[in-house]
Amino acid sequence: MIDPPADVCIVTFGCQMNKLDSQLLRGELLRAGFALTEDPDRARIVLYNTCSVRAHAENRVLSHLGAWRRRAGREPEFVLGVIGCMAQRLGGQLTRQFGHVRLVCGTRAFLRVPEYLRRLLAGEGTIVDTATDAPVRFRRAPAVRETPWQAHVSVMRGCDNFCSYCIVPYVRGREVSRPPDDVVRECEALAADGVREVTLLGQNVSGYGRGLPGEPVTLADLLERVNEVPGLVRIRFITSHPRDTSEDLLRAVARLDKVCRHLHVPAQSGADAVLARMGRGYTGSDYLRMTDRARELMPEVALASDFMVGFPGETEADFRDTLELVRRVRFQQSFVFKYSPRPGTRAARWPDDVPDEVKRARNQALLAAQEEVDRRRRSALVGQTLQVMVEGPSKADPARLCGRTGENDIVVFAGPRSLAGCLCRVRVIGATVLTLHGEAAGEVRTPGGAGCPALRERN
Ligand code: 5AD
Ligand code: SF4
Repeated sequence: MIDPPADVCIVTFGCQMNKLDSQLLRGELLRAGFALTEDPDRARIVLYNTCSVRAHAENRVLSHLGAWRRRAGREPEFVLGVIGCMAQRLGGQLTRQFGHVRLVCGTRAFLRVPEYLRRLLAGEGTIVDTATDAPVRFRRAPAVRETPWQAHVSVMRGCDNFCSYCIVPYVRGREVSRPPDDVVRECEALAADGVREVTLLGQNVSGYGRGLPGEPVTLADLLERVNEVPGLVRIRFITSHPRDTSEDLLRAVARLDKVCRHLHVPAQSGADAVLARMGRGYTGSDYLRMTDRARELMPEVALASDFMVGFPGETEADFRDTLELVRRVRFQQSFVFKYSPRPGTRAARWPDDVPDEVKRARNQALLAAQEEVDRRRRSALVGQTLQVMVEGPSKADPARLCGRTGENDIVVFAGPRSLAGCLCRVRVIGATVLTLHGEAAGEVRTPGGAGCPALRERN
């Protein structure tokens, strides 16, 4: 035990992988005798788990760090730390810029944080660890989860793609896949603990298996095995690269009953010249071929994408190709980002020549096009009965329940709170921006007869 117990607050920025890392670290800290708090003002130790993907994400953290200067001056025992991608990228620069930052710990070393905190509490001044040679250790998801029936499982880390704009390979390192037996064992343990939906995570999850020793194994093979885990009802995976979204993978998603028909496959742009400069390894028509094939195999599949606007040299005509792609593919969701040069990447050496107001206008135009295609897609769902995994009370209207379809659409409907964690049939009666409204139409009996306990009691 730490004596006196030191409260740690972890503030997380960035992607799902970062959220999972924060959860893993919370588990490690509890095991090491630390206490956790959600309130940074009450915490003796505040750690920022950070993202470097755009300058904006970094600037937000920098302003948070600056805001702790006064408290750090007043309370010498206060420990402020930076972990994750930004810590990896900036290292000792952070402690030089902010004398009150006492811990900087990169992406490969974050499981050493409890040990470093002990040393800092024992009087050591500052610790910086941005080692890149630390072996990747896959840790089981801790018992602390956002809901008891959903869990994220890390199946690979890092990325070898080196897209010209992207900092990820530099801050997260090379791809390392986790052995399939290990993934399956974790999924079994989670299912035994009540988890019904797992999301397999990797920065480049469709590249799963490359470099693993023994028989070749792909993401499709892994999905096949996880699909056999008793008790699980849904399997998701994010994020895929279009080039690796193979016929094999699409067929596996179409065939395996637990795998959700929802593919997050970032296109980034619809213009061939831009895609070539980004180093993506496909053209707009390759991308369309992949999504057409996905729809052929699974007419109801939901496709989601990330897009970047204002990439160096992006012309109006290039941008129109991107708009056209959004309309052709009829994405369910598009995440749109203004290009932001990242030091050390290839693209950062090229002039950032699209003015910010043009980036902003393209960002808005793309979101408007996306909203339009999604409005049509969702209106077409009205009248259908969909399977919804209930997550809990709706935030906007706590008297109603909120859940998701396998295609990742949010559905709000009336029902008892005891349905949380259950798979229900819901008839869609209306659609508003980003939400479907429905009415309960019964329980779904899941394989192995595992129905919802709440519904069983009522029936
Ligand atoms: N600038 C803006 N957006 C970026 N992304 C990655 N790198 C950059 C960058 N330098 C976006 C991509 C990626 C998402 C996670 O962030 O669209 O898919
Ligand atoms: Fe941000 Fe990428 Fe790091 Fe995730 S992996 S936190 S998106 S830089």
